[in-house]
Amino acid sequence: MLRKALFPLLAIIAMATVSAGSWAAEPHEPVNHRFCFTCHGTDGMGSEGINGPRLAGMEPWYLKRQLELFRAGGRGKHPDDYHGMEMQPMAVILTDENIADILEWAATWEYVPATPTLTGGNVQRGQQLYQACASCHGANAEGSEAMNAPQLAGQNDWYLVTQLKNFKAGYRGVDPLDQYGAMMRTMTSGLTDDQAIVDVVSYINTLGR
Ligand code: HEC
Ligand code: HEC
Repeated sequence: MLRKALFPLLAIIAMATVSAGSWAAEPHEPVNHRFCFTCHGTDGMGSEGINGPRLAGMEPWYLKRQLELFRAGGRGKHPDDYHGMEMQPMAVILTDENIADILEWAATWEYVPATPTLTGGNVQRGQQLYQACASCHGANAEGSEAMNAPQLAGQNDWYLVTQLKNFKAGYRGVDPLDQYGAMMRTMTSGLTDDQAIVDVVSYINTLGR
């Protein structure tokens, strides 16, 4: 049902983009590439209904890399990566200039940790599982640019669960362009089942608050 609902939305965005292209010929017209909140929630705080994660507070280097990766088709192209496939065409239409502007704009969005939604997680088991993650993502899931690993604390838990499942299933992190995703994909081997994923994300929910 949700996927059906998205098609008209995508069509509207596509139309808006076409008209943005024709406006571009005229000086002083606003460039219409700031459509992100349609799917990423008010002030970039995430939208569970559309599966668009929180962007507010995201590290600029990670935000930039993901936009470029989607644009190049290294993410969001696998036929079973439904949510990635919603984002991928949105990045294709961005120029380098648009991305630079979005990064500047994104820096003004206030960071507020997302509200936890997960239930049924074993936080203690999650804490043990997280020991395998801390070397890259940090003891408090604060992220590490040196390790190319983004902050996980404060991100929407439903999004983290989807990504871990996607890495594990090979819907993300398999494209030859996605070298960082490939590295992350190998790290999901210790998460042996869905419960382990819920447990580790439940522990991440306790960090950085
Ligand atoms: C049609 C809906 C839609 C629009 C419009 C959209 N996005 Fe997305 N975006 C998504 C979805 C859904 C995901 C989650 C993809 C996944 O689950 O892998 C996503 C994921 C992302 C990610 C990856 C986040 C991460 O933690 O890896 C970034 C970055 C992103 N979007 C930025 C943007 C920006 C910037 C814009 C505006 C230029 C934008 N998006 C517009 C739907 C959208
Ligand atoms: C060897 C370093 C390393 C380890 C260990 C590691 N990760 Fe990652 N992780 C990464 C990198 C690098 C990325 C960014 C991938 C990209 O740029 O697409 C990432 C991305 C992610 C993402 C996607 C975030 C987003 O916004 O889309 C999640 C979720 C994640 N890791 C969770 C974990 C968990 C949970 C563990 C432990 C079980 C873990 N990682 C262990 C390096 C690591």
